[in-house]
Amino acid sequence: MTSPAPRLPFSRPPAFVAPGRDGAPRVLLLGSGELGKEVAIELARLGVEVVAADRYAGAPAMQVAHASRVLDMGDPVALRALIDEVAPDVVVPEIEAIATQVLVDVEATGRVIVVPTARATALTMDREGIRRLAAETLGLATSPYRFVDTLAGLRAATAAVGLPCVIKPVMSSSGKGQSVIRTPDDVAAAWEYAQTGGRVAASCPGGSGGPDETGVRVIVEGFISFDYELTLLTVRHTGGTTFLDPIGHTQVDGDYRESWQGQDVPDVVVRRAQEIATAVTDDLGGYGVFGVEVFVVGEEVIFSEVSPRPHDTGLVTLVSQDLSEFALHARAILGLPAGDVTRIGGPGQEAAASCAVLAEGEGVPVVTGVELALAVPTAQVRIFGKPSVSGRRRVAVALARGADVAEARARARAAAAALRIELV
Ligand SMILES: Nc1ncnc2c1ncn2[C@@H]1O[C@H](COP(=O)(O)OP(=O)(O)O)[C@@H](O)[C@H]1O
Ligand SMILES: [Mg+2]
Repeated sequence: MTSPAPRLPFSRPPAFVAPGRDGAPRVLLLGSGELGKEVAIELARLGVEVVAADRYAGAPAMQVAHASRVLDMGDPVALRALIDEVAPDVVVPEIEAIATQVLVDVEATGRVIVVPTARATALTMDREGIRRLAAETLGLATSPYRFVDTLAGLRAATAAVGLPCVIKPVMSSSGKGQSVIRTPDDVAAAWEYAQTGGRVAASCPGGSGGPDETGVRVIVEGFISFDYELTLLTVRHTGGTTFLDPIGHTQVDGDYRESWQGQDVPDVVVRRAQEIATAVTDDLGGYGVFGVEVFVVGEEVIFSEVSPRPHDTGLVTLVSQDLSEFALHARAILGLPAGDVTRIGGPGQEAAASCAVLAEGEGVPVVTGVELALAVPTAQVRIFGKPSVSGRRRVAVALARGADVAEARARARAAAAALRIELV
């Protein structure tokens, strides 16, 4: 299915007035992490007023927005009150954990554009919605899968999809609650981990419930021994659909660590990935950047998942393109053309890479060594300014270019290693 032509947030061509003045375009960011911070900066560059919301004060995007609000965006009453109060032209979800029914309702009023569409945010917040759409409606190749909500169901599902397999809460991101089941002995621990690790933890994890007791719903996927995985950033904008150069990446425990552009990907794989991205993003509709994740085995391309927003592996575009994924998102969601992308980096800088910098523990992250990181050729850093950390969190990213992927990655890693993170 191809969705109807997206609605535009403003009369065409958009009129820009100083932020805060009557008639000024206003964007409400739902989620104010490091990706939202870059989107807020790009919107501000175009003179757009940005109100940044999250569940805690001082979040990265709040530090660069015109105003901020603190609330639980999963609470439908609070979210509806926020949208009524801020009266934005455009609502830009940055995270998945949002009361998406409210987005459906406000979109239906016709007064607010939800990016890319309310339906897309609802389908992608839940692994079941997007997986069934991709595999069953669109007929795309995916890993074999089952959805279950009991331990007994999990045992049957692992037998059906085969071992090894991957288990993930349907409501989860960044690898939370996700693990690999290699033998039947792993099943109980994997179930327990999924019950506590997702966004919606079981009400009594580890309780005395039997194998048939309903818990947090999970997807069980056959493990794909891929040669490599890619993110294909796909921009839907008034000028059409634009694909960025594929991004290679590594994940540890389901969480992104390094990403790069400039990898030699066979044309047939790129074409197939673009076909998959077209099928998925045409169905989801709306305007904006999508991160389409695929696994590649030989020349076979397998759809994994999609973010209807800039992707963490796309941080590399901050140094690889004249317009980053965040700049392109800002343009696209305002109803502006976003198809004119130029790779940057002259001879000897054909590839680019990012390396995430993590802190683990409790406290306020203090970053030093920036001067050493920036001594690495071509290196740049973004420090997210997170007010505190609890658990394992990304606090900065190192970026660099190089003659090939190996050199760009080595430089990004060297810059990341030069940063010292202390929690005080
Ligand atoms: N079925 C699978 N087979 C092999 N690896 C997988 C599979 N599912 C996930 N992974 C690995 O885990 C990473 C995170 O999984 P993903 O489904 O993208 O979750 P998240 O929403 O947390 O990003 C993937 O990028 C990939 O490296
Ligand atoms: Mg992913």
